Amino acid sequence: MANDSRFIKAIYSIMDALKSSTQLAESMESSLNILCSILECKSGSFWMQSIEEKRVYVIASNGPEDKTGYSVNIGEGIIGAVHQSGLREIVKDGMHDPRTADTDDASLFGSLSLVVPMKTLHGSYGVLLLNDPSRPFDEETIRVAENCCAFIALDIEEKGLAFKPIKNKNILVSLRDVIKEFQNGDELHRVLKGIDLDVYEGELLVVLGESGCGKSTMLNIIGGMDQATDGQLLIEGKDFSHPTEAELTQFRRDYIGFIFQSYNLMPNLTALENIEFIAEISQHPLESEEMLELVDLGDKAGNYPSSMSGGQQQRVCIARAIVKNPKIILADEPTAALDFHTGQDVLKLIEQIVQDRGTTVIMVTHNIEIAKMANRVIRLKDGRISSIRVNMHPRHAEELSW
Ligand SMILES: Nc1ncnc2c1ncn2[C@@H]1O[C@H](COP(=O)(O)OP(=O)(O)OP(=O)(O)O)[C@@H](O)[C@H]1O
Ligand SMILES: [Mg+2]
Repeated sequence: MANDSRFIKAIYSIMDALKSSTQLAESMESSLNILCSILECKSGSFWMQSIEEKRVYVIASNGPEDKTGYSVNIGEGIIGAVHQSGLREIVKDGMHDPRTADTDDASLFGSLSLVVPMKTLHGSYGVLLLNDPSRPFDEETIRVAENCCAFIALDIEEKGLAFKPIKNKNILVSLRDVIKEFQNGDELHRVLKGIDLDVYEGELLVVLGESGCGKSTMLNIIGGMDQATDGQLLIEGKDFSHPTEAELTQFRRDYIGFIFQSYNLMPNLTALENIEFIAEISQHPLESEEMLELVDLGDKAGNYPSSMSGGQQQRVCIARAIVKNPKIILADEPTAALDFHTGQDVLKLIEQIVQDRGTTVIMVTHNIEIAKMANRVIRLKDGRISSIRVNMHPRHAEELSW
């Protein structure tokens, strides 16, 4: 009986939490805290399957760091495996388990964990992970966790709740199994080994990865500056894998604004002329002077690049990218050559463009602090996307520091 009392207490508290919460994430967070407390576990997380993708995301976590938005593919890692099989598991040291190598779930495990599927007869909704119990997991604790998860899954099903990590789901660009090879002397070097990625309208997507892993290569393929060896590039659903020269020129002109690490402004044109030059060859350009004002360089219109600081030149580049009024801005390490304050100013501008203009920005960086302002963060490793994170609470550029 004493045993049942824990279950009854948990169920009543969870019922209350589910009833009083207005949002799915909020009710999952409350349920998680209830379960951690009643089952005496140090930390835990709830993972839910996204309705649009074959991925399972952290919707609530109560460790020291906010890990919401971390995700694994169904079947991948331990979380993805339990979600797929529907079979609970007790895991020792999941962080170092071979199955979690290279998957996002590794960092959410403790030294001893219980992984329970959240399922009904009709479907699997996600997974509960509980870590570091005050004493080893016994049958009764497992039963309470399983029953509570089944109860929560039923509630989700009855209410028809769906988890959507990505709010705006208009897809602007898609890469499908994109492969890129370079000939290096006699050797063929496969840099991208099958990239699958959807880029959504109006998102700030940050791309991380070690030097040489293919970030710039991927960006160049998206921007039509380079072509994939194999695979598909879709622009608003249309196949753009083998464009004609004319289509390519038009695409780059109308869709893409590029911001590079090196500023590559035309040295013999002034700041304003550098922007006007691009505006003239664009289909729906914005006002060049206004763009210069926007990047706070109204007083430098007549300056040549050589008489401007690095940060000022980078801001001219941003003005030059946005004057085209492109749908997508591709930024390859735009702050790498800048000091902290100048870099932060550049990031504030990028944030403003995404927010005010709804422009999609894909930004490559080595700086993981910058990833905090992204809507999503993808990591490239060994020619593939090794993780996709949705940032549930993106920071403002102003709040970042490095
Ligand atoms: N035009 C090219 N010809 C041959 N090899 C190339 C070419 N462009 C890139 N590579 C090779 O492809 C790999 C990926 O290069 P890429 O520039 O995409 O890396 P990256 O992730 O952007 O690195 P970094 O962070 O240093 O900028 C590297 O090994 C590079 O040497
Ligand atoms: Mg690069």
